[in-house]
Amino acid sequence: MKLFLVGCGTGNPDHITMEGLKALRAAQLILLPVKGTRKSALADIRREILTTHLGTDAPQIQTFEIPSREPDIPYQQAVLRWHDEIAHRWQAALTKASSPEKVALMIWGDPSLYDSAIRIAERLRPVPEIQVIPGISAIQVLTAAHKIPLNRLAGDITIMTGRNLRETGIDDSIDNVVVMLDGETSFTTLPADAFDIYWGAYLGMTEQILLSGRLADIADEIIHLRAEARSRHGWIMDSYLLRRRP
Ligand SMILES: C[S@@+](CC[C@H](N)C(=O)[O-])C[C@H]1O[C@@H](n2cnc3c(N)ncnc32)[C@H](O)[C@@H]1O
Repeated sequence: MKLFLVGCGTGNPDHITMEGLKALRAAQLILLPVKGTRKSALADIRREILTTHLGTDAPQIQTFEIPSREPDIPYQQAVLRWHDEIAHRWQAALTKASSPEKVALMIWGDPSLYDSAIRIAERLRPVPEIQVIPGISAIQVLTAAHKIPLNRLAGDITIMTGRNLRETGIDDSIDNVVVMLDGETSFTTLPADAFDIYWGAYLGMTEQILLSGRLADIADEIIHLRAEARSRHGWIMDSYLLRRRP
């Protein structure tokens, strides 16, 4: 079996590449994750991508439920078990579909960035041939929306999770940081006078919200906007770039 891991962007159907569309057309089966308010919103967007670009040519879709992570065991262990369980569900969905030759998964953003589809695919038995097709990540949509370069002139860029930001902070030698997977507005743990922030939620979608400025000036506004949008939609995904002020 050949498995296409197709980066599909972060919510704008126009952000999938021609290469991604070719792979979706070539597949006999698409595995589609579903579950919860956020997951069902993301499943709807994936279906919209298929309807927009493939119309009635879209291949058969087989849904699978994303399991929950076990909350009471150490984080790393919980993630490994979670991957095992997801692989198990892919395997079950494939068996149900009578083992098709070409299968595709639409991976949110880019498959290489904070996504474990590649690791999960390696757990399938027999191990399939895998083709990874790049997609536009939340980082690219964030910087394009704010009309800023990602890096400073010839500078470095650090990408971290909200959890790591809370646990380790930002080293004094680092001055340009993208933060993702942050459910807890972890920028509040930083010295607010030291950074500018470029924040975006629902990037690429019609609901997109952007805010930028001195962290000290707009942190409270982001917290308020974030909470309000989250309760209105039932879910939120946001990312931000922090730049140390000169
Ligand atoms: C599991 S990671 C997946 C990242 C994805 N592979 C990518 O390339 O963007 C999920 C995180 O990506 C970011 N993200 C994904 N989609 C987003 C969107 N539409 N708007 C803002 N942030 C988004 C958020 O930080 C979210 O917590």
